[in-house]
Amino acid sequence: MKVLLIGQGAREHVIAESVVKSNGVLYAYMKTRNPGIAKLSKEVKIGSLNDFNNIVDFAKKVDFCIIGPEDPLAEGVVDRLEDAGIPCIGPHSSTARLESSKSFTRLLLTKYMIPGNPDYKVFEDMNDVREYLQTHSNIVVKPDGLTGGKGVKVWGEHLSNINEAETYIRELIEKDGKVVVEEKLDGEEFTLQAFVDGVNVVGSPLVQDHKRAYEGDQGPNTGGMGSYSFPDHGLPFINREYIPQALDILKKTVNAVKKETGIPYKGILYGQFMLTRNGLKLVEFNCRFGDPEAINILPILETSFTDICLRILDGNLSEKHVLFDDKATVVKYLAPVGYPVSPVPTEVTVSEDDIRKLGGRVYYASVSEKDGKILTTTSRSIAVLGVGSTIEEAERIAENSICYIGGELFHRRDIGTRKLIQKRIDHVKQLLS
Ligand code: AMP
Ligand code: GLY
Repeated sequence: MKVLLIGQGAREHVIAESVVKSNGVLYAYMKTRNPGIAKLSKEVKIGSLNDFNNIVDFAKKVDFCIIGPEDPLAEGVVDRLEDAGIPCIGPHSSTARLESSKSFTRLLLTKYMIPGNPDYKVFEDMNDVREYLQTHSNIVVKPDGLTGGKGVKVWGEHLSNINEAETYIRELIEKDGKVVVEEKLDGEEFTLQAFVDGVNVVGSPLVQDHKRAYEGDQGPNTGGMGSYSFPDHGLPFINREYIPQALDILKKTVNAVKKETGIPYKGILYGQFMLTRNGLKLVEFNCRFGDPEAINILPILETSFTDICLRILDGNLSEKHVLFDDKATVVKYLAPVGYPVSPVPTEVTVSEDDIRKLGGRVYYASVSEKDGKILTTTSRSIAVLGVGSTIEEAERIAENSICYIGGELFHRRDIGTRKLIQKRIDHVKQLLS
């Protein structure tokens, strides 16, 4: 099977590894040359991810495409590829609205009576905004479209009074024509990623990501500084009864989006959930694997990834085709010093052999290779993965692997440690008591 992968981050690096491990022949279309993906590929093409003509042209060589990031999905790369007769793992632009329009998702859940919405309101003009803010103080203001996870403003953190909230709401309505204002939730977040063949929805191990830049969940929000999963495929602070509930929200959504648009959803559906004192709430959907969460699940997939992709395309996927090893995983991202506020690009060195000897793995993110040197950009640079029988073992492998990476980088030592996980357990206990 010849497979074209679109994208150049660590998420795409782990997808590339999974394709090759399951006997796919990899073709890669990237904006910049990811050295890890390049090494695994039969052929590489560098070009803009917005240049759909170029992508379609390159895709004529392959049997199907996998689209890694959200932007080309939202802009309709799958619509174009399918028009050219190339099957895709990834939704059409109309169904990708589950990620690219927060109002579409909230209204869809309401219309089809799918549980998980917080109290919310969509505004398309400033009428009634002030009145709403006077009666709803604990709010979150969300841009309707894609913002790379950085556009959400939370009451008490980024918004301290009604005037500030009103100003931000006006700015977003002027930009996007609408804005979502919703109740601020309190709870613990987790990610559930599912494989979807248009009808069947098959889940994977729960993962917890860490958005804040610094240890102890301090500092600005990032794309995610690291994540972990447990050998039982749950999380110690999420009662197992919530896993089928979360999966049911994904299943009902796949069904509803087909009814709403007439187009079946094929690809990955990522649910970001929060367990609150009022039960499970949906924070957002993504129409792709998470970054870093893909790195937690794909390396412990026991069944063939390429086979799963073919079944997604054929519409005959079931649970028995998606099995995972009973292992813990810990992913830690290294980012340039100063990220995400004032990152300073740096040259990095990576002793991949030493890391492999430890049992660790490396996935390249925002780096480029030039004259044999690896240079970071201003975003997250490299992810390391530890896999173990216990979370402690996985965490130790990840941490020891980082000793073999040089450069002006930082990471969160606390991700995957007992102390931080205990904090989550105590938080949920206190919430539900
Ligand atoms: P999103 O772009 O929707 O993932 O939002 C980014 C982050 O903002 C989430 O991961 C949450 O931590 C936070 N967030 C989003 N919606 C809410 C909400 N209704 N209540 C509290 N926090 C939220
Ligand atoms: N880890 C969050 C995301 O992929 O959007």
